[in-house]
Amino acid sequence: MSYSSVEIIDGGQALSLDGTRFHALWLRDNALDPETRSPGNGQRLITLTDIPGSTIVSEAVLSDNGLEVTFLPEDKTVSFPHDWLKQHAYDKPVGKPAGWLPTDIETWDAGLNMSVPTADFGEAKQGGEVLGGWLSAVRRYGFAKMRGGPVESGALLEVADLFGYIRETNYGKWFEVRTEVNPTNLAYTGLGLQAHTDNPYRDPVPTLQILYCLENSAEGGDSQVVDAFKAAEKLRAVNPDGFRLLSSYCARFEYAGAEGTHLLTRKPMIELAPDGELIGIRFNNRSAAAITDVPYEEMSAYYAAYRQFAEIIDDPSMAVSFKLSPGECFIVDNTRVLHARKGYSGEGSRWLQGCYADKDSLYSTLSVIESQQKVAAQ
Ligand code: FE2
Repeated sequence: MSYSSVEIIDGGQALSLDGTRFHALWLRDNALDPETRSPGNGQRLITLTDIPGSTIVSEAVLSDNGLEVTFLPEDKTVSFPHDWLKQHAYDKPVGKPAGWLPTDIETWDAGLNMSVPTADFGEAKQGGEVLGGWLSAVRRYGFAKMRGGPVESGALLEVADLFGYIRETNYGKWFEVRTEVNPTNLAYTGLGLQAHTDNPYRDPVPTLQILYCLENSAEGGDSQVVDAFKAAEKLRAVNPDGFRLLSSYCARFEYAGAEGTHLLTRKPMIELAPDGELIGIRFNNRSAAAITDVPYEEMSAYYAAYRQFAEIIDDPSMAVSFKLSPGECFIVDNTRVLHARKGYSGEGSRWLQGCYADKDSLYSTLSVIESQQKVAAQ
């Protein structure tokens, strides 16, 4: 799709392509010529202060190849492909609601039980379509399962290797989730655990978690996942002021359960970007510290919203449940999807291993696969 008309507006401070406006300074800063952008790595070679603040467009010509623009006072002419301008246009309607989500994210509830995104480890290891589909499901749903992995200690690292790198923490490169006699964390007991995100006391929080099953013959111990973005949407619908409270005041999270470790953060339970995008959830009853950043006048309403949020999260209609078999694992976006565990008995054995990783490398791998698929489709 090409633009068909161009008009210089605001005395050259901007131009309009079929009604979509671009500022002169923005266009100059984003010029794609080899003096502005390195042809080798695409990085910008100039700083903003290298561009005159008085930059205007003196000439703009459309052709089949794109838009050719001349800037004064530099008297510099550069061109932009139509596709590039379409992809980067920013002249859009403003005023999205607090808690909006991008289109590549889909919120879900227990209905997803019928179609849990799952891939086979051996197939995903080949890369390409299967791996791309699995990573894309993690982006869309914040959660996916994998089956058919090796049943051996440390195999979870091979899952992280499919897309990126593990995040080592004070719990090690990975941690064992099975009953301990003197546990340093309640996860290492047979107790049921309320749905939670891991390690909200860390900054930055680990953005992915993999939980990998090596043995699971104990009674119970099923895993559950809950989409906390869906829960936040529900809270916003029934109690908009409660949504405001949980997203505009910080809670506090703390862990000091092991010798030599004291982790403490001050972050909201529902995190929004400055433009209102819903970008993260922190929810963990075990590590919630005293909340001291909510004014006295709002604390009662804050607690009511916190309770309401917890009730939505605990509602069985929100949960996807499954029992992992040895060689199976699941991955969650730890900034979005909560995981829970039903209690289990001491009979039989339950042995999971967990590790953390991060979304930036997962999205990087996914982006590369998607680009390769686009090239192959051309
Ligand atoms: Fe956990």
